[in-house]
Amino acid sequence: MAKILDKRDLAPEIDLFTIDAPLVAQKAQPGHFVIVRASETGERIPLTIVDYNRDEGTIDLVIQAVGCSTIELCNLEQGDEFLDLLGPLGEPIEIKEIGTVVCVAGGLGVAPVYPKAKYLKEAGNKIISIVGAQTEEMLIMKDEMEEVSDEIYFATDDGTLGEKGFVTNILDSLLDERDEVDEVVAVGPAVMMKAACEVTTEYDIDTIVSLNPIMIDGTGMCGGCRVTVDGERLFACVDGPAFDGHAVDFEELMMRQSHYEDEEEEAEHKCNL
Ligand code: FES
Repeated sequence: MAKILDKRDLAPEIDLFTIDAPLVAQKAQPGHFVIVRASETGERIPLTIVDYNRDEGTIDLVIQAVGCSTIELCNLEQGDEFLDLLGPLGEPIEIKEIGTVVCVAGGLGVAPVYPKAKYLKEAGNKIISIVGAQTEEMLIMKDEMEEVSDEIYFATDDGTLGEKGFVTNILDSLLDERDEVDEVVAVGPAVMMKAACEVTTEYDIDTIVSLNPIMIDGTGMCGGCRVTVDGERLFACVDGPAFDGHAVDFEELMMRQSHYEDEEEEAEHKCNL
């Protein structure tokens, strides 16, 4: 059991949970994730560890209520408990001094980008962030990203905050103007990460992405999270979820992500009844 110490609204149907998880907090590093379940019948949901506090024994998780199991999780309140929480899982990203890092986050991708930006900043890097969402209301963790960024740009689909359009357009203009960028970190929907990698390929800049395939056990046993990177079959849960974006087979990732769309739609319909 993992107790919810705090719950905060970030945007419509997106909440930030602070969880009492001292053992996980002790070992957590940027890039790690956990798998949680709300109940015996709930799906196992992988969630990035957005932040951790070793002294207080807490971790922060962001959850968007988009299907039955995440709706069940988001219906829990401060003082309630997740049935189980497994982690930290995955490979942490390497935090070292690189120089100037551009952090690109789309939608819920802010949750995995934030810890990377925060700890890369602490390691002495200059952080330029580009954060996008559908609307200003849907853009999460704006204050936190501003705090860890030396420069920050916003993009929204409707132009309610920052530039109207895609984060990748801003990335393209930025890389065109600057020659000081040493690395790009891009996390968001697969289509966005693919587009970001196409831009950075043009400028020959190393790009780290964090993949979000379907996961079940999170320990390399089920094969559900299989991805192809540099022609090699890897498991996002144990080999990632962060990978060299230029080596990822995004077409395969998107095809596998959409495999259970009909079942997901049917389940969502049932739980909304
Ligand atoms: Fe089962 Fe990765 S989630 S192998």
